[in-house]
Amino acid sequence: MPYAHITGWGMSIPQKILTNDDLAKMVDTNDAWIQERTGIRERHIAAENQSTASLGAEAALHALRVANLAPTEIDLIICSTSSPEHTFPATACLIQDAIGATRAGAFDLSAACSGFIFAVNMGAQTIKTGSAKNVLVIGAETLSRFVDWNDRNICILFGDGAGAFVLQASDRPGGVISSVMRSDGSGSDLLSLPAGGSKHPASEITVHTGMHFIHMDGKEVFRFATRVMAQATIEVAEKAGWKTADLALIIPHQANRRIIDAAARGLKLPMEKFMVNVERYGNTSTASIPIATVEAVQQGRLKPGDKVVMVGFGAGLTWGALAAEWSGPISTERKLAPEWYAWFAPARSLVRRAIRLLEGLFFGRKS
Ligand code: UT7
Repeated sequence: MPYAHITGWGMSIPQKILTNDDLAKMVDTNDAWIQERTGIRERHIAAENQSTASLGAEAALHALRVANLAPTEIDLIICSTSSPEHTFPATACLIQDAIGATRAGAFDLSAACSGFIFAVNMGAQTIKTGSAKNVLVIGAETLSRFVDWNDRNICILFGDGAGAFVLQASDRPGGVISSVMRSDGSGSDLLSLPAGGSKHPASEITVHTGMHFIHMDGKEVFRFATRVMAQATIEVAEKAGWKTADLALIIPHQANRRIIDAAARGLKLPMEKFMVNVERYGNTSTASIPIATVEAVQQGRLKPGDKVVMVGFGAGLTWGALAAEWSGPISTERKLAPEWYAWFAPARSLVRRAIRLLEGLFFGRKS
């Protein structure tokens, strides 16, 4: 059975920064409160011309570049998101088109902030069972579009961004070793975006009552998170045959610095073992773990051979973890930069649309 290695990683962050002081001009809050209760100093907000797919595509191209892979070599794209561009088509299909991954199947995965863990696990299983060789996993969010900017309980927390991994098959031992995926739908009301789905389609009432915004019972989510983070880390490490003391790094979902502190206490591990960057990005939901991973590599905190656990929690309720032996690129062959494929993607897309139109004109009437 092949191993599923993480061979590429990338991130994309919007330029626009919203600081705590900026928020204090919008709602009744202040920098000291936000920093003390969450650890967040600032977050990035997508510009009007940016979207979940555009941030996801940019992160994906960076990841492909690290892996030395061309978009056309990708077999499968999984995009984890809670802020998809549409109910359908999948945001993964838009990314597939934008980067020119012409051979790839693409679908979205919805498991909120735990989604990236679930998606990497799905990608790794697809490789291990032999149905794909190269998988692109993306976590992308523009949750700022679903935030009520008058709600101080919510608007201080979230930020936009995307991260991506390339997973590749190899006979060399390592890569994704074990995983834990859990859900408890009895807590579905604790964190939700109530309207816009089939239960509450958009109507004057849903818009008027703010049902298209994120709703959260922060205290309950906090309690749940502090309970499951340490538990899932221990479980996934045991499944891999490791002790938590063996871990070089733990990369937790970046929601609140206090939740990460609590996990460290629960695991009796020093904070130096945890990657934390919530202060600069806020909670980017499913994108937070890959973004933190990219920065951990950049800071030299994650090296080939290191044992790492990634652990997340979120709406659903969902939580999960994965244990991986860090790899690095396995393909050394230099390729045409992935960006080239992306530059030609709009022209290729246009040609395909034109062909469909002509086919409709010439053959459509016969059927
Ligand atoms: O990806 C998963 C997503 N969610 C999470 O991880 C969220 C988990 N929960 C949390 O991170 C925390 O519960 C929050 C940061 C959301 C809130 O922190 P807290 O320590 O649980 O605060 P609280 O809700 O108990 O509020 C304490 C006080 C309240 O005032 P009173 O009732 O004690 O007078 C709030 O009204 O702080 C007030 N408050 C604020 N004050 C200034 C609430 N939000 C703010 C604010 N600025 N932004």
